Amino acid sequence: MKIGCSKLVLFFCFALIHLLIPTAAQRPLIRCYNAGNYTSNSTYRENLDSLLTTMFNNSKIDYGFYNLSAGESPDKVYLIALCRGDNSPSECRSCINGSRYELLKACPYQKEAIIWGETCSLRYSYRSIFNIMEARIVTYRINGANFSDVEAFNSVLRSLLDSLRNRAASGNSTHKFALQSAPAPKFKTIYSLAECTPDLSELDCNSCLQRVQNIIPQCCDGRQGAKFVTPSCDLRYELYPFYDSSAEPPPLSPPPQPLVPSESPPPDLPTATLVDTDDQISAVECLQFDFGKIRVATQNFSDANKLGEGGFGAVYKGRFPNGHEIAVKRLSKNSSQGEIEFKNEVMLVARLQHRHLVRLLGFCLEGDERLLVYEFLPNASLDRFIFDPVKRAQLNWEKRYKIIEGIARGLLYLHEDSQLRIIHRDLKTSNILLDAYMNPKISDFGMARLFQTDQTQGNTNRIVGTYGYMPPEYVLHGQFSVKSDVFSFGVLVLEMVSGQKNHTFCGENNGEGLLNYAWKKWKDGTTSNLVDPTLRTDSTIEMMKCIHIGLLCVQENVVNRPTMASVVLMLNSESMTLSIPSRPAFVMDSHTRSSMGTTPSRSSPVQASVNNVSITELDPR
Ligand SMILES: *[C@@H]1O[C@H](CO)[C@@H](O)[C@H](O)[C@H]1NC(C)=O
Ligand SMILES: *[C@@H]1O[C@H](CO)[C@@H](O)[C@H](O)[C@H]1NC(C)=O
Ligand SMILES: *[C@@H]1O[C@H](CO)[C@@H](O)[C@H](O)[C@H]1NC(C)=O
Ligand SMILES: *[C@@H]1O[C@H](CO)[C@@H](O)[C@H](O)[C@H]1NC(C)=O
Ligand SMILES: *[C@@H]1O[C@H](CO)[C@@H](O)[C@H](O)[C@H]1NC(C)=O
Ligand SMILES: *[C@@H]1O[C@H](CO)[C@@H](O)[C@H](O)[C@H]1NC(C)=O
Ligand SMILES: *[C@@H]1O[C@H](CO)[C@@H](O)[C@H](O)[C@H]1NC(C)=O
Ligand SMILES: *[C@@H]1O[C@H](CO)[C@@H](O)[C@H](O)[C@H]1NC(C)=O
Ligand SMILES: *[C@@H]1O[C@H](CO)[C@@H](O)[C@H](O)[C@H]1NC(C)=O
Ligand SMILES: *[C@@H]1O[C@H](CO)[C@@H](O)[C@H](O)[C@H]1NC(C)=O
Ligand SMILES: *[C@@H]1O[C@H](CO)[C@@H](O)[C@H](O)[C@H]1NC(C)=O
Ligand SMILES: *[C@@H]1O[C@H](CO)[C@@H](O)[C@H](O)[C@H]1NC(C)=O
Repeated sequence: MKIGCSKLVLFFCFALIHLLIPTAAQRPLIRCYNAGNYTSNSTYRENLDSLLTTMFNNSKIDYGFYNLSAGESPDKVYLIALCRGDNSPSECRSCINGSRYELLKACPYQKEAIIWGETCSLRYSYRSIFNIMEARIVTYRINGANFSDVEAFNSVLRSLLDSLRNRAASGNSTHKFALQSAPAPKFKTIYSLAECTPDLSELDCNSCLQRVQNIIPQCCDGRQGAKFVTPSCDLRYELYPFYDSSAEPPPLSPPPQPLVPSESPPPDLPTATLVDTDDQISAVECLQFDFGKIRVATQNFSDANKLGEGGFGAVYKGRFPNGHEIAVKRLSKNSSQGEIEFKNEVMLVARLQHRHLVRLLGFCLEGDERLLVYEFLPNASLDRFIFDPVKRAQLNWEKRYKIIEGIARGLLYLHEDSQLRIIHRDLKTSNILLDAYMNPKISDFGMARLFQTDQTQGNTNRIVGTYGYMPPEYVLHGQFSVKSDVFSFGVLVLEMVSGQKNHTFCGENNGEGLLNYAWKKWKDGTTSNLVDPTLRTDSTIEMMKCIHIGLLCVQENVVNRPTMASVVLMLNSESMTLSIPSRPAFVMDSHTRSSMGTTPSRSSPVQASVNNVSITELDPR
């Protein structure tokens, strides 16, 4: 199970890196994605045309970044245009004008396409592409001859690009761009430029550029210049000024000479590997990790490295020799899925990318071992804060509200905006992880796909989920839909406001449960009693709104529960009038008491959790 994948390379390995042989005049780089076609007179094309026109006519392009969408699903089109940060508005317009015609000519029917011109890029898609980091596929062009003093050159280049990357990433929401030069051996100067689409967070921009930097040792070691592009960021360096160097900050001073020659250790994350040598050389980045390396990184899956244990297996912290940290989920051994199905599922789930979802980096298969490799998040999960008598004080209302909004957006993405429709089925505070800035990230999504709980293998009645967050139709009848997640979200919101777990909540009458208590207080008009005492000084209006939304989400009648799209709208709107909630599920009265605690009916199969999606839609060449 080496990173260099086998014959099945194009199937199991995601990122194809296209190398185009340099030509005198730099042709634009173009990719037409094989992710669906439109026809000439279609609504999709109309929406696309209207976007290209509005974008071009709109004056906001003057800051060099444009993101917009038009139409309604399934014909909705999303578009991003980005001009190089040092472009004048007129250069920008002219580059974008040229690019839109070239792109339509090159990709006449593809719903998703991208062009990188000399100083701008233009991209459109049928799926939401805003705020999402995409850098699996790196396209690059090598320029010029080799540099003879490779060691010294690399050492300058590395510190130059590190500084450049951090400067670009720390830009603002309209501008993530940096230029920098540095003296190189032999009295030369290296000029460099980096840019991200400014809708990315600082972290995402940084990791996008880092991914690109990671492939340099493999594709371009010792080369004098190269240009790399991905949908989310681009990077270029040359031994000549390819931009107006009066716009850059003072050159970096030469880095201190390392005492020992320090070739950076080969990165352990999957990176580029050349696989054939045509005009279009493709390099492949796998999602497959080497089992041995993961075992070492997690110290043999030692208990000391264990972060937690969930329904699908234990999670370990791992650390590669180069310092990169990961979280590894070791799936319990009796998954019924075959290898190929498992790999396909990983690839589908890995495509789900959103700033409020934990990123799945890849997988590992060896014998009956199945591992999932995720980004590591330092601040553990939400339950460790919200239910901790001391730490909960760190989450004031403003932070809690931001977390609630983030979770709502992540869930909306899973339900509606991603290409697959994913029902989480186990949303709860311990599945919400927090990044270094306390932004929430939903974890464990797509597990139903990855760890097939399976309709055909006889255990169709297995209920995944956590008691206290599951709606009655799921517990009692095994039925689930997006509205089951909405229910769990409602429980979570009430927990966030009250700081109480449902199943340990006692209220005035022992064991009445949080939902029951919240409903009673709502009916009595004394909802403020529900609020976590540590929050009492904060914005009550928002808290009351959240309790209201929470109660709407946990209504017994599935139809009455709002969709996540409405929830997001309610959270964002200050003046919207919310409907009146009806009785929540599981309120203890004579009507439901009798059915409480019964096991799921064995005869009712769990419905398929997600749309069936053909794997032929997988990553384009
Ligand atoms: C889209 O059209 C191209 C040719 O124009 C074809 O090669 C490709 O298979 C089509 N893709 C789909 C998903 O229909
Ligand atoms: C598109 O519409 C035009 C005029 O409305 C028509 O002449 C043409 O045949 C149509 N093309 C297709 C592919 O339907
Ligand atoms: C956009 O600009 C073009 C000229 O570049 C003009 O012909 C067209 O009417 C404008 N469209 C809109 C919607 O303003
Ligand atoms: C845009 O590009 C097209 C095709 O190259 C050209 O005919 C047109 O004049 C350009 N429009 C503007 C406003 O630059
Ligand atoms: C540059 O170095 C690479 C690998 O070391 C070699 O294959 C290539 O021929 C060299 N190119 C030139 C122009 O010297
Ligand atoms: C973003 O940064 C750029 C360059 O530093 C600056 O020109 C622009 O005014 C900034 N925009 C905002 C909204 O801060
Ligand atoms: C477009 O980008 C701007 C600047 O980053 C951002 O403020 C805005 O929310 C984005 N719009 C969408 C629809 O994402
Ligand atoms: C991990 O396990 C292997 C075999 O099970 C053993 O040889 C090795 O010493 C262990 N390494 C550590 C760090 O415990
Ligand atoms: C996996 O096997 C264990 C015991 O071997 C069993 O308790 C568990 O229910 C099985 N899980 C699934 C999903 O079949
Ligand atoms: C979250 O993690 C970051 C980075 O490890 C740390 O600096 C910060 O203090 C943590 N925040 C909390 C509230 O623990
Ligand atoms: C909340 O807790 C109460 C008391 O433990 C329990 O009766 C109720 O069913 C729980 N609510 C949910 C939605 O599970
Ligand atoms: C899922 O598969 C079934 C049977 O193969 C088919 O009838 C249905 O249209 C498919 N659904 C989607 C969303 O592709």
